[in-house]
Amino acid sequence: MLAGKVITIGVTGGIAAYKAAWLVSNLAGLEAEVHVMMTRSAKAFVSPLTFQVLSGHPVRTGLFTAGEDAPIPHVEMAARSDLLVIVPATANIIGKVAGGIADDLLSTTIMAATCPVLFCPAMNVNMYRNPVVQRNLAMLRELGYHLAEPEVGRLACGTEGRGRLPEPEIILEQIKDILSRAGDLSGMTVLVTAGPTREPLDPVRYITNRSSGKMGYAVARAASRRGARVILVSGAVGLEPPPGIKLIPVETARQMFDVVMEQFPTVDMVVKSAAVADYRPKEMAVQKIKKNENNLILELEKNPDILFELGRRKGRQLLVGFAAETGDVEENALSKVRHKNLDLLVANDVTLPGAGFGADTNIATLVYPDGTVIPLPKMDKLSLAHRILDEVLTLRRARNIL
Ligand code: PMT
Repeated sequence: MLAGKVITIGVTGGIAAYKAAWLVSNLAGLEAEVHVMMTRSAKAFVSPLTFQVLSGHPVRTGLFTAGEDAPIPHVEMAARSDLLVIVPATANIIGKVAGGIADDLLSTTIMAATCPVLFCPAMNVNMYRNPVVQRNLAMLRELGYHLAEPEVGRLACGTEGRGRLPEPEIILEQIKDILSRAGDLSGMTVLVTAGPTREPLDPVRYITNRSSGKMGYAVARAASRRGARVILVSGAVGLEPPPGIKLIPVETARQMFDVVMEQFPTVDMVVKSAAVADYRPKEMAVQKIKKNENNLILELEKNPDILFELGRRKGRQLLVGFAAETGDVEENALSKVRHKNLDLLVANDVTLPGAGFGADTNIATLVYPDGTVIPLPKMDKLSLAHRILDEVLTLRRARNIL
């Protein structure tokens, strides 16, 4: 599977640089075309000659170094690579990329790359815990970079804690996962809904919910990274849309209904992660509602159920719903997946820490109409997004939808 793949390994200055040598050697042994770039401080830990011998290619170290084979090495390697792996990734390179700094060969290559990039952080436990580093890692996740989570263990500085580079075998498995997904959705159109709806009461107030849009944006990003054409129908959120997708902003459930129905005939699959308001105020006051001494009674009327309608209309499309539950997760999810005629439902118990609204992670259970239930461990929302897309692709193949 790795044969012929062009993998660029970026080595930065940390003691775990020696583990990158094992990775380079094994990737080359699996017939990948491996190129190595080293930062200036990486050379203090391992000699470029080591990587040159293991990869069979000259090691690139400088942006402007005369005599190296490519006139603009960062552009050439960014364009040629199927995958970039930064191993080990120091707090410095993580901070530079999160901050948009490109001032050496490796950081400019990452900036110019359109292929997936995997960062493998390794550092002292206190550096890893530092809120600045954590903020930068969250930024990388949000931007769609892949991360190999560091392990807990004894660190080179003599302390114990999280910050150890995962064993190279684990990184190798992650590399295989990423490459097996690259381009597997090309030719497909994926419609994703994300975020909350807002149902206006008067010109200044509305009824809404706690959805941040993170889950839906992660699905849109993952699908786009895998080569799909992505239409993202989004309620009001404070997130940057992933590059290269078609964003259609909406506010109310009825607007979302209209846009989704219009796009539906052109798409191959729908992932409905938006939290749609089930009810809206029956009347929207033209003027701001004034305070008086009495209680205010609002009359609400039902919004259309977008997903139910999609389930009624669907032909060859695959439909994935989400369910935000606060108890009896499996039972409720099973009834929803059947009632709405879905192919898959992703249920999340939004009362659990690290799950549901606003969190960077989620804890989901996959529920199929035939009663199959697959509980998943806690994972970041991008990983869950990829897992959902894997499941949909398996369903497509099983049904012979090409
Ligand atoms: O946005 P985040 O902060 O990252 O949070 C993620 C999330 C919690 C919003 C997400 O993981 C999630 O659970 N989304 C679905 C929330 C929801 O509306 O669940 P529900 O059980 O009420 O609805 C079931 C399904 O029907 C959903 O796919 C929903 O989009 C859809 N629906 C609901 C009502 C309606 N009128 N029309 C719909 O299409």
